[in-house]
Amino acid sequence: MSRKVPTSTAGSKKAATMIYPEYFARFYDLIYHRVRDGVDNTFYLDRVRKTTGKVLEVGVGTGRLFVEALTNGADIYGIDISPAMIGIVTGKLDSNQKKRISRQNIIDFILPHKFSLILAPFRVFMHLTTKKEQLNALNNVYDHLSPGGEFIFDAFIPDLNLLLNGTSNVTDFDEEFEPGNRVKRTVTSRPDLLNQVLNITFTMEWNEGGKIFRKDWNTIMRYFFRFELEHLVERSEFRKYKILGDFEGNELDQSSREFIVVCKK
Ligand SMILES: C[S@@+](CC[C@H](N)C(=O)[O-])C[C@H]1O[C@@H](n2cnc3c(N)ncnc32)[C@H](O)[C@@H]1O
Repeated sequence: MSRKVPTSTAGSKKAATMIYPEYFARFYDLIYHRVRDGVDNTFYLDRVRKTTGKVLEVGVGTGRLFVEALTNGADIYGIDISPAMIGIVTGKLDSNQKKRISRQNIIDFILPHKFSLILAPFRVFMHLTTKKEQLNALNNVYDHLSPGGEFIFDAFIPDLNLLLNGTSNVTDFDEEFEPGNRVKRTVTSRPDLLNQVLNITFTMEWNEGGKIFRKDWNTIMRYFFRFELEHLVERSEFRKYKILGDFEGNELDQSSREFIVVCKK
Protein backbone atom coordinates (compact mmCIF):
# COMPACT_ATOMS: atom_id res chain seq x y z
CA MET A 1 0.00 0.00 0.00
CA SER A 2 1.49 3.41 -0.85
CA ARG A 3 0.95 6.34 1.47
CA LYS A 4 1.94 9.95 1.21
CA VAL A 5 4.42 10.64 3.99
CA PRO A 6 5.20 14.33 4.55
CA THR A 7 8.83 15.07 3.68
CA SER A 8 11.47 17.46 4.88
CA THR A 9 15.14 17.52 3.97
CA ALA A 10 16.23 18.09 7.59
CA GLY A 11 18.57 15.39 8.76
CA SER A 12 18.54 13.60 5.43
CA LYS A 13 22.26 13.93 4.64
CA LYS A 14 23.92 10.52 4.50
CA ALA A 15 27.48 10.87 5.83
CA ALA A 16 28.11 7.25 6.74
CA THR A 17 26.93 3.79 5.91
CA MET A 18 24.33 1.69 7.73
CA ILE A 19 25.51 -1.44 5.92
CA TYR A 20 27.45 -3.54 8.40
CA PRO A 21 30.86 -4.43 6.87
CA GLU A 22 32.27 -7.94 6.66
CA TYR A 23 34.87 -7.43 9.44
CA PHE A 24 32.12 -6.20 11.81
CA ALA A 25 29.78 -9.09 10.98
CA ARG A 26 32.61 -11.57 11.45
CA PHE A 27 33.20 -10.61 15.12
CA TYR A 28 29.58 -9.63 15.92
CA ASP A 29 28.59 -12.85 17.71
CA LEU A 30 31.81 -12.99 19.72
CA ILE A 31 31.19 -9.47 21.01
CA TYR A 32 27.42 -9.31 21.36
CA HIS A 33 26.65 -12.76 22.73
CA ARG A 34 28.94 -11.55 25.53
CA VAL A 35 27.75 -7.99 26.02
CA ARG A 36 24.09 -8.04 24.93
CA ASP A 37 22.58 -11.49 25.55
CA GLY A 38 22.13 -10.92 29.28
CA VAL A 39 20.24 -7.69 28.58
CA ASP A 40 17.54 -8.38 25.98
CA ASN A 41 17.42 -12.01 24.85
CA THR A 42 15.08 -13.32 27.58
CA PHE A 43 12.61 -10.51 26.86
CA TYR A 44 12.53 -10.98 23.09
CA LEU A 45 12.63 -14.79 23.14
CA ASP A 46 9.76 -14.87 25.67
CA ARG A 47 7.65 -12.64 23.42
CA VAL A 48 8.36 -14.99 20.51
CA ARG A 49 7.55 -18.06 22.63
CA LYS A 50 4.17 -16.60 23.64
CA THR A 51 3.22 -15.83 20.03
CA THR A 52 0.86 -17.98 18.01
CA GLY A 53 1.41 -17.37 14.33
CA LYS A 54 4.25 -16.03 12.26
CA VAL A 55 7.05 -13.85 13.63
CA LEU A 56 9.37 -11.50 11.72
CA GLU A 57 12.69 -10.17 12.97
CA VAL A 58 13.61 -6.97 11.16
CA GLY A 59 17.36 -6.37 11.22
CA VAL A 60 17.92 -10.04 11.97
CA GLY A 61 21.70 -9.57 11.85
CA THR A 62 23.74 -12.69 12.48
CA GLY A 63 20.75 -14.45 14.05
CA ARG A 64 21.81 -13.81 17.65
CA LEU A 65 18.11 -14.15 18.65
CA PHE A 66 16.65 -15.64 15.48
CA VAL A 67 18.50 -18.98 15.59
CA GLU A 68 17.40 -19.76 19.15
CA ALA A 69 13.80 -18.75 18.36
CA LEU A 70 13.76 -21.01 15.31
CA THR A 71 15.32 -23.88 17.28
CA ASN A 72 12.59 -23.40 19.91
CA GLY A 73 9.99 -24.00 17.19
CA ALA A 74 8.96 -20.46 16.18
CA ASP A 75 7.67 -19.88 12.66
CA ILE A 76 10.10 -16.98 12.30
CA TYR A 77 11.37 -15.02 9.28
CA GLY A 78 14.13 -12.42 9.05
CA ILE A 79 15.14 -9.47 6.90
CA ASP A 80 18.28 -7.34 6.95
CA ILE A 81 20.01 -4.84 4.68
CA SER A 82 23.60 -5.99 5.31
CA PRO A 83 24.84 -8.83 3.07
CA ALA A 84 27.65 -9.71 5.50
CA MET A 85 25.21 -10.14 8.40
CA ILE A 86 22.87 -12.20 6.21
CA GLY A 87 25.84 -14.36 5.20
CA ILE A 88 26.46 -15.23 8.86
CA VAL A 89 22.85 -16.03 9.78
CA THR A 90 22.17 -18.12 6.68
CA GLY A 91 25.42 -19.99 7.34
CA LYS A 92 23.87 -21.18 10.63
CA LEU A 93 20.67 -22.50 9.02
CA ASP A 94 19.82 -25.80 7.36
CA SER A 95 19.38 -25.41 3.61
CA ASN A 96 15.58 -25.81 3.83
CA GLN A 97 15.39 -22.90 6.35
CA LYS A 98 17.53 -20.37 4.47
CA LYS A 99 14.49 -19.10 2.56
CA ARG A 100 13.26 -17.60 5.82
CA ILE A 101 15.89 -14.85 5.42
CA SER A 102 15.88 -12.13 2.77
CA ARG A 103 17.81 -8.98 2.06
CA GLN A 104 15.28 -6.21 2.44
CA ASN A 105 14.93 -2.81 4.07
CA ILE A 106 12.40 -2.15 6.84
CA ILE A 107 11.16 0.92 4.96
CA ASP A 108 9.90 -0.96 1.89
CA PHE A 109 10.16 -4.74 2.47
CA ILE A 110 7.53 -6.96 0.91
CA LEU A 111 6.72 -10.41 2.29
CA PRO A 112 3.76 -12.60 1.36
CA HIS A 113 2.72 -13.17 4.99
CA LYS A 114 0.94 -11.39 7.80
CA PHE A 115 2.77 -11.61 11.12
CA SER A 116 1.47 -11.86 14.68
CA LEU A 117 4.69 -10.33 15.98
CA ILE A 118 7.36 -8.17 14.32
CA LEU A 119 10.53 -7.36 16.26
CA ALA A 120 13.39 -4.97 15.56
CA PRO A 121 15.74 -5.81 18.44
CA PHE A 122 18.88 -3.95 19.41
CA ARG A 123 18.81 -0.46 17.91
CA VAL A 124 17.68 -1.38 14.38
CA PHE A 125 15.25 1.55 14.37
CA MET A 126 18.07 3.94 15.37
CA HIS A 127 19.65 3.31 11.97
CA LEU A 128 16.76 5.22 10.36
CA THR A 129 17.84 8.84 10.31
CA THR A 130 14.99 10.70 8.62
CA LYS A 131 11.34 11.17 9.56
CA LYS A 132 10.34 9.80 6.17
CA GLU A 133 12.30 6.58 6.71
CA GLN A 134 10.93 6.20 10.23
CA LEU A 135 7.30 6.68 9.18
CA ASN A 136 7.65 4.47 6.13
CA ALA A 137 9.15 1.79 8.36
CA LEU A 138 6.34 1.98 10.93
CA ASN A 139 3.64 1.97 8.26
CA ASN A 140 5.22 -0.86 6.30
CA VAL A 141 5.49 -2.94 9.46
CA TYR A 142 1.86 -2.09 10.24
CA ASP A 143 0.79 -3.39 6.82
CA HIS A 144 2.55 -6.70 7.51
CA LEU A 145 0.87 -7.30 10.89
CA SER A 146 -2.27 -9.34 11.41
CA PRO A 147 -5.07 -7.59 13.33
CA GLY A 148 -4.02 -7.51 16.99
CA GLY A 149 -0.38 -8.09 16.01
CA GLU A 150 2.47 -6.28 17.76
CA PHE A 151 5.62 -4.47 16.67
CA ILE A 152 8.38 -4.11 19.27
CA PHE A 153 11.56 -2.08 18.88
CA ASP A 154 14.09 -0.54 21.26
CA ALA A 155 16.22 2.58 21.45
CA PHE A 156 18.53 3.81 24.16
CA ILE A 157 17.58 6.77 26.29
CA PRO A 158 20.17 9.43 25.48
CA ASP A 159 22.92 9.88 28.06
CA LEU A 160 23.36 13.64 28.37
CA ASN A 161 27.07 13.36 29.19
CA LEU A 162 27.60 11.37 26.00
CA LEU A 163 25.62 13.91 23.99
CA LEU A 164 27.72 16.73 25.38
CA ASN A 165 31.17 15.19 25.21
CA GLY A 166 31.05 12.15 22.94
CA THR A 167 33.67 9.46 23.50
CA SER A 168 37.15 9.08 22.16
CA ASN A 169 38.85 5.75 21.47
CA VAL A 170 37.14 3.73 24.19
CA THR A 171 38.14 0.06 23.99
CA ASP A 172 35.01 -1.98 24.70
CA PHE A 173 36.27 -5.41 23.65
CA ASP A 174 39.72 -7.01 23.61
CA GLU A 175 39.87 -10.82 23.61
CA GLU A 176 41.23 -13.86 21.80
CA PHE A 177 38.96 -15.00 18.97
CA GLU A 178 41.10 -18.09 18.38
CA PRO A 179 44.19 -19.39 20.15
CA GLY A 180 46.96 -16.79 19.85
CA ASN A 181 44.88 -14.28 17.85
CA ARG A 182 43.10 -11.31 19.43
CA VAL A 183 40.49 -8.84 18.29
CA LYS A 184 40.18 -5.39 19.80
CA ARG A 185 37.37 -2.92 19.22
CA THR A 186 37.50 0.78 20.05
CA VAL A 187 34.64 3.23 19.71
CA THR A 188 34.64 6.95 19.08
CA SER A 189 31.38 8.87 18.98
CA ARG A 190 30.84 12.47 17.98
CA PRO A 191 27.43 13.91 18.78
CA ASP A 192 25.61 16.11 16.26
CA LEU A 193 22.88 17.78 18.28
CA LEU A 194 21.24 19.53 15.33
CA ASN A 195 20.61 16.32 13.42
CA GLN A 196 20.13 14.29 16.60
CA VAL A 197 22.69 11.68 15.64
CA LEU A 198 25.81 10.14 17.06
CA ASN A 199 28.53 9.82 14.41
CA ILE A 200 30.24 6.62 15.47
CA THR A 201 33.56 5.13 14.37
CA PHE A 202 34.12 1.49 15.27
CA THR A 203 37.77 0.52 14.88
CA MET A 204 38.43 -3.22 14.65
CA GLU A 205 42.01 -4.45 15.04
CA TRP A 206 42.94 -8.10 14.90
CA ASN A 207 45.93 -10.28 14.19
CA GLU A 208 45.85 -13.30 11.94
CA GLY A 209 48.41 -15.28 9.92
CA GLY A 210 51.24 -13.22 11.43
CA LYS A 211 49.70 -9.94 10.19
CA ILE A 212 47.86 -7.11 11.94
CA PHE A 213 44.62 -5.82 10.42
CA ARG A 214 42.86 -2.55 11.22
CA LYS A 215 39.57 -1.27 9.80
CA ASP A 216 37.41 1.75 10.60
CA TRP A 217 33.65 1.75 10.09
CA ASN A 218 31.81 5.08 10.22
CA THR A 219 28.12 4.81 10.96
CA ILE A 220 25.30 6.87 12.45
CA MET A 221 22.77 6.30 15.20
CA ARG A 222 19.74 8.52 15.44
CA TYR A 223 18.74 9.07 19.06
CA PHE A 224 15.27 9.84 20.35
CA PHE A 225 13.68 11.60 23.26
CA ARG A 226 10.47 10.26 24.73
CA PHE A 227 7.97 12.71 23.31
CA GLU A 228 9.50 12.60 19.84
CA LEU A 229 9.02 8.84 19.87
CA GLU A 230 5.43 9.29 21.00
CA HIS A 231 4.72 11.87 18.27
CA LEU A 232 6.37 9.63 15.69
CA VAL A 233 4.27 6.59 16.52
CA GLU A 234 1.15 8.77 16.71
CA ARG A 235 1.82 10.06 13.16
CA SER A 236 1.97 6.47 11.89
CA GLU A 237 -0.91 4.07 11.30
CA PHE A 238 -0.54 2.64 14.80
CA ARG A 239 -3.24 3.82 17.18
CA LYS A 240 -2.27 1.80 20.26
CA TYR A 241 1.20 1.71 21.79
CA LYS A 242 3.11 1.87 25.05
CA ILE A 243 6.73 2.54 25.91
CA LEU A 244 8.39 0.37 28.55
CA GLY A 245 11.51 1.39 30.44
CA ASP A 246 13.40 -1.90 30.64
CA PHE A 247 13.49 -5.50 29.46
CA GLU A 248 11.76 -6.66 32.66
CA GLY A 249 8.67 -4.91 31.33
CA ASN A 250 8.60 -2.02 33.83
CA GLU A 251 7.06 1.36 33.06
CA LEU A 252 9.34 4.26 32.15
CA ASP A 253 10.76 6.08 35.16
CA GLN A 254 13.73 8.27 36.04
CA SER A 255 16.05 5.25 36.24
CA SER A 256 15.11 3.88 32.80
CA ARG A 257 17.91 3.42 30.27
CA GLU A 258 15.83 1.95 27.43
CA PHE A 259 12.80 2.87 25.38
CA ILE A 260 11.03 -0.36 24.45
CA VAL A 261 8.21 0.60 22.14
CA VAL A 262 5.32 -1.85 21.84
CA CYS A 263 2.91 -0.89 19.02
CA LYS A 264 -0.31 -2.83 18.53
CA LYS A 265 -2.37 -3.08 15.32
C1 LIG B 1 22.75 -4.05 16.05
S1 LIG B 1 22.27 -5.13 14.76
C2 LIG B 1 21.01 -6.09 15.55
C3 LIG B 1 20.94 -7.50 14.99
C4 LIG B 1 20.00 -8.44 15.75
N1 LIG B 1 18.64 -7.94 15.72
C5 LIG B 1 20.46 -8.60 17.17
O1 LIG B 1 19.69 -8.28 18.09
O2 LIG B 1 21.58 -9.07 17.39
C6 LIG B 1 21.29 -4.11 13.67
C7 LIG B 1 20.95 -4.80 12.36
O3 LIG B 1 19.99 -4.00 11.68
C8 LIG B 1 20.28 -4.04 10.30
N2 LIG B 1 19.65 -2.87 9.69
C9 LIG B 1 20.05 -1.59 9.78
N3 LIG B 1 19.21 -0.79 9.08
C10 LIG B 1 18.25 -1.60 8.55
C11 LIG B 1 17.13 -1.36 7.71
N4 LIG B 1 16.83 -0.15 7.28
N5 LIG B 1 16.35 -2.43 7.36
C12 LIG B 1 16.68 -3.69 7.78
N6 LIG B 1 17.75 -3.96 8.54
C13 LIG B 1 18.53 -2.93 8.94
C14 LIG B 1 21.79 -4.06 10.24
O4 LIG B 1 22.27 -4.53 9.00
C15 LIG B 1 22.13 -4.96 11.42
O5 LIG B 1 22.23 -6.30 11.01
